[in-house]
Amino acid sequence: MKAKVCKTNEIGVNTMKSFDIEGEPILVANVGGKYYSIADTCSHAMAYLSEGELLEDCRVQCPDHAAIFDLKTGEALALPAVSAVETFEVIVEGDDIFVETGAG
Ligand code: FES
Repeated sequence: MKAKVCKTNEIGVNTMKSFDIEGEPILVANVGGKYYSIADTCSHAMAYLSEGELLEDCRVQCPDHAAIFDLKTGEALALPAVSAVETFEVIVEGDDIFVETGAG
């Protein structure tokens, strides 16, 4: 399912935001003008990655126990998380941002 999340000017460069898509929290990050999307739930425990820190090299750090995830692949790069988080395709059309969740 391709879901519209927001306008491009709503996610500033090198910031990230959380969106509810069909009841699932999904993070969209703007890294140097390119957009990435992953599940907004840490694979270690219940924390919103969007409340963590956007790091260099397209990585995000969990606010709870500092696990690090790759925004491009969803891969867990630092303990205590060991499982990847889901990634989603981001589509920009004009100034609208869509996320392809694959569901529906
Ligand atoms: S909840 Fe994210 S590292 Fe523990």
